[in-house]
Amino acid sequence: MIHNEDFPCAFKILELRAKVFDLNLKQIEQGYYGQTKELGTLDHELYMLYKSITKYDVISKIKKSKTLLIGEGNLSFTISLVKKLRLLPNFITSTYEDYSELSEYAQFNAKLLKQAGIKVLHGLDATELHKHFYSNTFDTVIFQFPHSGSREGINGINANYVLVKKFIISASYILKKDGVVLITVVDSDFYNNTFRFDELAEELGISQPTKYKFNPKDYPEYEHTMTHQEESGIEDYSKFATYEFRI
Ligand SMILES: C[S@@+](CC[C@H](N)C(=O)[O-])C[C@H]1O[C@@H](n2cnc3c(N)ncnc32)[C@H](O)[C@@H]1O
Repeated sequence: MIHNEDFPCAFKILELRAKVFDLNLKQIEQGYYGQTKELGTLDHELYMLYKSITKYDVISKIKKSKTLLIGEGNLSFTISLVKKLRLLPNFITSTYEDYSELSEYAQFNAKLLKQAGIKVLHGLDATELHKHFYSNTFDTVIFQFPHSGSREGINGINANYVLVKKFIISASYILKKDGVVLITVVDSDFYNNTFRFDELAEELGISQPTKYKFNPKDYPEYEHTMTHQEESGIEDYSKFATYEFRI
């Protein structure tokens, strides 16, 4: 799914990929393979750029897979997904907070979801999933805007980098083969510097995540909240990204 405003960029990328393809073909015709590897790398970079202006089709993904939602705050993203799906989803949603710690609005959403037959867990820690679920249980694990509520370092490392790292490690135990972790974050220098996903993937020895575009407005009922406050922390930003980690 590409947004209208990104069409010129998408066409440019396709044009450049066609040029790279032609260059490679010419080389091969001349029996020269010197730059095949570089051209392959360039084509891969262009492909990843194309992906980054594409939206992740989370609805199709959830329809086909068993999904776990983590740290859902006021559960409004879950509500939005259910409305979009138009069928009883094969997923479990969760909040980090215990039920009694949730806002009235979050408790209302939790009740609504439970009445609709959806499993809602409370007090679920993203870093301890392996203690709650059997291995090979989920195809997809989703964490929207992970944030520990602190910017303090843990042994000099950003607490949010550590949270996501421990989350991915824990999720890897409960994911099925070919399962994915989807993490949505604000796409800004500050947050990119906080999460450093490229570095994280390298540290964990997994492949680099694929970046997709995310637009909260696609989810009308979604009212994003900050970790310790009810108000939205994303209103000041306009760019968001979903990263798909294959583990
Ligand atoms: C910025 S808020 C985003 C909330 C919600 N996902 C949304 O998009 O509106 C970050 C969320 O991460 C949760 N969180 C923080 N540490 C967590 C942990 N260790 N395990 C699970 N969730 C956690 C918080 O409770 C909070 O709801």
